[in-house]
Amino acid sequence: MQEKILIIGACGQIGSELTMKLRDKFGNKAVIASDIREGSTELMQSGPFEFLDATDKAAILMIIHKHQVTTVYLMAAMLSATAEKQPKKAWDINMNSLLYVLDFAKEKLIQKVYWPSSIAVFGETTPRIDTPQKTILEPATVYGISKLAGERWCAYYHNKFGVDVRTLRYPGIISWKTLPGGGTTDYAVEIFHKALQEGSYECFLSENTTLPMMYMEDALKATIDLMDGPFFKTYVSYNVAAVSFNPKELAEAIRKNVPNFTITYKPDFRQEIADTWPQTIDDSLAREEWNWKHEYDTNAIVKDMLKNLKS
Ligand SMILES: NC(=O)c1ccc[n+]([C@@H]2O[C@H](COP(=O)([O-])OP(=O)(O)OC[C@H]3O[C@@H](n4cnc5c(N)ncnc54)[C@H](O)[C@@H]3O)[C@@H](O)[C@H]2O)c1
Repeated sequence: MQEKILIIGACGQIGSELTMKLRDKFGNKAVIASDIREGSTELMQSGPFEFLDATDKAAILMIIHKHQVTTVYLMAAMLSATAEKQPKKAWDINMNSLLYVLDFAKEKLIQKVYWPSSIAVFGETTPRIDTPQKTILEPATVYGISKLAGERWCAYYHNKFGVDVRTLRYPGIISWKTLPGGGTTDYAVEIFHKALQEGSYECFLSENTTLPMMYMEDALKATIDLMDGPFFKTYVSYNVAAVSFNPKELAEAIRKNVPNFTITYKPDFRQEIADTWPQTIDDSLAREEWNWKHEYDTNAIVKDMLKNLKS
């Protein structure tokens, strides 16, 4: 059967680039983008698009039938900082959409599911340096609670019903094409825009808040490699890591390219979230089992971000 992909939440930071990567790989018509809002001109014009609310089970089913979908990438979610403001709504979006899609896979209406987890599954009782794959998971945010519950639901549907659902714990994702959607690591994208537009940035995290990050190119590669590969040896939501830095270190790396750039710090409620997350991640299981390897280090990320945002 020809692979037909539905991306739910396709117009967001990751979805918009994932859609274009998958269209390059499988052909434009084989990848149906969907969201509650329109995406970029590139996304809207290069292939099929459907307005779709991830909390509407009947509507998802209709689109699955209409396009004979085989694989769903469920990217719609409310992210960490926004979710703290609307906890119940975040739970509704993040959890119900996943359960609907898992049910469709259980009923064999679709063959395969991708669902992103996050480093937000970890909490302040987790070791923060080289955070292991298997460790204490006591998230403090509603977003983290929803990601942890989501991971357990994925494992349950896999173990009990043989559902092919694959998941990664993304760190903060850095990209230039689409702005991020309300996460705690958003500063690491905003800083580039402000450096070029204004030459200065007021950061909402303190200077020494080290967090794991990854360039979009690497995040897409991890996602597609995981989905392309054979079924897991171990069923887990894989830790994946690339770089770790704090705002001060990122500002210094930017200053090498934008000499007069200045940064000030005014931590807000997002500091509290960041303080419960790991600083560095041990992703050796992903590296061993499916040869995960990142390409972009901090300097390469900075150079590529500035080059693309300038042009
Ligand atoms: N960006 C990151 O740094 C990061 C890190 C870890 C995990 N993740 C996860 O990756 C996934 C994608 O994240 P992102 O950064 O692209 O998020 P985003 O906020 O940029 O995009 C989410 C998209 O989902 C859409 N959406 C929201 N509610 C919807 C609904 N009810 N129905 C359909 N669409 C809806 C939004 O319009 C948006 O286009 C999420 O599950 C997120 O938790 C992201």
